[in-house]
Amino acid sequence: MSTVPSTYRVAVIPGDGIGAEVLPPAQQALDLVARRFGFSLEYDVFDWSCQRYAETGAMMPADGLDRIAGHDAILLGAVGWPGVPDHVSLWGLLIPIRRQFRQYVNLRPIRVLEGLPGPLREPGPVDFVVVRENVEGEYSEIGGRLNRGFPEEMAVQEAVFTRAGVTRIADYAFDLASTRRGHVTSATKSNGIVHTMPFWDEIVRERAALRPGVGWRQEHIDALVAKLVLRPADFDVVVGSNLFGDILSDLAAAIAGSIGIAPAANINPEREFPSMFEPVHGSAPDIAGQGVANPLGALWSASMMLDHLGEQDAAAALMTGIERALADGAVRTPDLGGTDTTQDLADAVLAAIPA
Ligand code: NAI
Ligand code: MG
Repeated sequence: MSTVPSTYRVAVIPGDGIGAEVLPPAQQALDLVARRFGFSLEYDVFDWSCQRYAETGAMMPADGLDRIAGHDAILLGAVGWPGVPDHVSLWGLLIPIRRQFRQYVNLRPIRVLEGLPGPLREPGPVDFVVVRENVEGEYSEIGGRLNRGFPEEMAVQEAVFTRAGVTRIADYAFDLASTRRGHVTSATKSNGIVHTMPFWDEIVRERAALRPGVGWRQEHIDALVAKLVLRPADFDVVVGSNLFGDILSDLAAAIAGSIGIAPAANINPEREFPSMFEPVHGSAPDIAGQGVANPLGALWSASMMLDHLGEQDAAAALMTGIERALADGAVRTPDLGGTDTTQDLADAVLAAIPA
């Protein structure tokens, strides 16, 4: 008896600027590996963007989340455009998706790949993952502004840390480390931030005690960023709050050589809702429209999506294509020091995907 090949339904949100330029190549690569590995992907494309905001006053329709809640995954390019405040594009689209779909893990793998000259002289074999808490912490709506325009004007913003929220992100980090090299570094600042960070530390320590097979330590965020630059190869899994994780992952992307190749996954580990896969970079208005954006961040994110969907072989084949195209080095977009286009580099990856 033959089994029916799987079909995955993917909600595609190209967004703004280069977001819309890097997703079509990602879909081409997905379709290629899908054919090779015997499954298929169906795409529903949504025009949710700053363009839409300018026309209708909303980044997405009121029932937007309902329209994508039943998909197997979400592939997003980037949102944000000059003229629309960044907090509007972020809070009007990305943050509602992350929060309503309980994507509380933001996963950002960092590897120094052959053929990609990074800023560090001798980085060594860098291969670590930043696990960022994605739905609470410092990015909260709680707070306010008072006495606007007066000398005593003030702003207060509350950071929110819950036992459930810290526990699940810590558990995710320890579980992930147990499938890798078995070490977690927890980012803290409990010397300066005296309520939330000691609470974070306490819970991480409790969860660590349940995983005797996984080593761990905590580092203050300021010392940690220095060590990530000095000895990036020493790290395996780095777990941090929403703000610390955000900063760590951009630093880490820079260590790897270009923000253009960095991928991210917003994961709902319980799979009650679709998870969302997106390159780390934004809409890059400075190069948008020229067709020269590096598509590798989007392609790597697509590989993470396949992994999440259970298509590990296809995910690995796509990753091999990326690695081979980079190592070969014949085709390079401007951020990699060349003059080739987005499609040229995507084609090089497609050609390098093992048969
Ligand atoms: P950005 O990532 O768009 O660009 C930063 C710099 O990196 C620019 O010089 C850009 O040309 C370059 N760059 C980024 N991606 C590249 C790629 N794939 N290939 C080659 N070069 C690349 O960040 P920026 O300029 O701070 O933000 C621009 C807009 O994007 C803003 O509206 C911001 O809010 C939004 N944004 C959206 C994100 C998202 O959708 N997740 C993430 C970051 C920013
Ligand atoms: Mg960021």
